[in-house]
Amino acid sequence: MSRKYFIAGNWKMNKTPEEGAKLASEIASIVSKDASVDVVICPTFTALDRVSQAIEGSAVKLGAQNLYPKTSGAYTGEISPEMLREVFAKFVILGHSERREYFGESDAFVNEKVKFSLENLINPILCIGETLEQREADETLEVVKTQLLGGLVGVEASQMGSVVVAYEPVWAIGTGKTATPKMAQEVHGSIRALLNEKYGDAVGEKVRILYGGSMKPANAEELLSQKDIDGGLIGGAALDSNSFCDLVAAAKRAP
Ligand code: 13P
Repeated sequence: MSRKYFIAGNWKMNKTPEEGAKLASEIASIVSKDASVDVVICPTFTALDRVSQAIEGSAVKLGAQNLYPKTSGAYTGEISPEMLREVFAKFVILGHSERREYFGESDAFVNEKVKFSLENLINPILCIGETLEQREADETLEVVKTQLLGGLVGVEASQMGSVVVAYEPVWAIGTGKTATPKMAQEVHGSIRALLNEKYGDAVGEKVRILYGGSMKPANAEELLSQKDIDGGLIGGAALDSNSFCDLVAAAKRAP
């Protein structure tokens, strides 16, 4: 089963609208109209509009880093899918470990957001991953299973074409420590097996599963050549157009 590679940049709380527009223009001019790899950039809310304009006409797509599962109303500080759609955001990162850790997001809340984003035509990138303690206690596969199935409660097989999963071991995020390709593939393979079991092979085999956690041009090739690693969710290396586009190039070369 060949799946189109998917490289997404999570800019986290970095880049002003001005800086974001500059970085996005650089990426758009390198990627141009080449859609052989799905390339998505996810700036902060305030930079979305400028970045959206900067990538117009290129194959680069826009994503947000969060949303709130309501259409509008008294939810101070939150952003609705409709607001994201208006600036042409197509994707949203949900359940990132930083949101789980610093903002107390539970699997049930992440699940609400996943369902609401699908109903409102924004494609969710559902993030899951274990902490160092959980890995050392040999709980990785159990944690990943709970987060994956918890995030997908009530999501139908017919909606899975719009869902991207990102496996991000928490201990590898921003630390320079990467899961070895073998370690990552073991978890990706188990995620694939869970998706196949829940939705049937025809659906599960089509879902893109990204790796995230200190992915950079130097380690991308080996990670991307693993059977069930279909791309990357990139933090630090996405803040520079050269390193980000080198990752896109690595995905183009990947088998
Ligand atoms: P780093 O690439 O900086 O480790 O971040 C990964 C990540 O959290 C992407 O969502």
